[in-house]
Amino acid sequence: MPSSDLKIPAEHASNLVNPAAYAGPRIHETYAWLRANQPLGIAEIEGFDPFWVVTRHADILEVSRQNALFLNGARSPTIVNKEIDQRVRQMMGGSPHLLRTLIHMDAPDHPKYRILTQAWFLPQNLRRMEERIRIIARAAVDRMLATGGRCDFVREVALHYPLHVVMDILGVPEEDEPRMLQLTQELFGASDPELRRKDEEQTDEANQLRRGVIADFYNYFAKLSAARKAEPRDDLASVIANSQIDGRPISEFEAMSYYIIVATAGHDTTSSSTAGALWALAERPAELAKVKADPSLIPGLVDESIRWTTPVKTFMRTVAEDVEFAGRQMRKDDWMMLCYASGNRDEAVFDDPQEFRVDRSPNKHLAFGYGAHVCLGQHLAKMEMRILWEELLPKIDQLELAGEPKMSEAAFVNGPKTLPVRFEAA
Ligand code: HEM
Repeated sequence: MPSSDLKIPAEHASNLVNPAAYAGPRIHETYAWLRANQPLGIAEIEGFDPFWVVTRHADILEVSRQNALFLNGARSPTIVNKEIDQRVRQMMGGSPHLLRTLIHMDAPDHPKYRILTQAWFLPQNLRRMEERIRIIARAAVDRMLATGGRCDFVREVALHYPLHVVMDILGVPEEDEPRMLQLTQELFGASDPELRRKDEEQTDEANQLRRGVIADFYNYFAKLSAARKAEPRDDLASVIANSQIDGRPISEFEAMSYYIIVATAGHDTTSSSTAGALWALAERPAELAKVKADPSLIPGLVDESIRWTTPVKTFMRTVAEDVEFAGRQMRKDDWMMLCYASGNRDEAVFDDPQEFRVDRSPNKHLAFGYGAHVCLGQHLAKMEMRILWEELLPKIDQLELAGEPKMSEAAFVNGPKTLPVRFEAA
């Protein structure tokens, strides 16, 4: 990697890998500085391999579009320090991945695996699930109303609703959901002290490898998969369990990886943007009034809350060959961080990007990524949120914060972890 003038100042570089920076305004201050001064610089941080940092909307799009040049699988597709990287490689016979999911693959394998479930996630197929999801949404709204006007919205609604939906589509029975909720939080929130496994206190960093959590998921889904092979049903688990790759049944490891990516990617992300939306509305009575008065603005509210929260903060890519990109000389195997939450506040693309507007149009946010790996569940996520707001907004008035909300501490996926609100039932 070339260095010196491209090096990002230490105080900004360290924020990029510091989970606590993502729980407050600090990460956005760093992003704003980088967009203005060093939009494609290099972070050199003790304990981490150096990486390029991509903060402008246009550059993130371009890197994502060129997926033969910027790879997912060559190194870890999420940010990890050297120690964790080495331990994973030791455990996995040299591979940098604990799992083999879509986010760990490149062509020619990636499209083969993606196509297995792609049709299932299209709006035409999802439409038949609208009524089932609405029933789940009504139950979530009733739970909130039953609190009598004061609740932690994350605990009462945002955590359970998307979990319930994703478990329903996977075919996980309701009684197993609390266990799945705990496992997902442990996997994604692992750097947040309040969400980490009790036996995973800081003593041994190796625990952060999340091995135990992945093993629990693995065991659970192995049973589900065997059941769906024996007796297929009309759910996503049956599609995955019975799928074929190059004329052969999908391997157990890959089927497990598929369940895990859907279960985890489909839950925390949607929870975060759902809670982010209510937080923004609680602080902006005029925006709440606008969308309550005109429900046709609900899809706009959904998109704006996804832009605003950008639950997936970063993904990594690896440069496939020596290349000049955006005026920078890059080398094969260079690592690169895509900062979606920065692209989503890029002044060159969004008017008043720091404002939350339910009627923002256009809203070309990057929160679902772009290109070959663009979020498989984006239509489901948007449909889920639309239905929740259609059910919830007519039922509440006078929404406001009833305490200080808190964000989780994580540099990969994060969002509100507590959101105390007061409301009046309409
Ligand atoms: C990939 C965001 C909801 C399943 C991704 C990526 C992002 C993302 C940024 C990587 C895109 C890229 O590399 O270009 C989000 C957000 C969500 C959400 C913000 C909610 C607001 C969901 C849901 C599901 C899901 C509900 C499934 C039930 C997936 C899968 C991938 C993915 C399987 C990997 C796709 C691939 O690599 O080909 N998502 N996601 N996501 N998402 Fe989502």
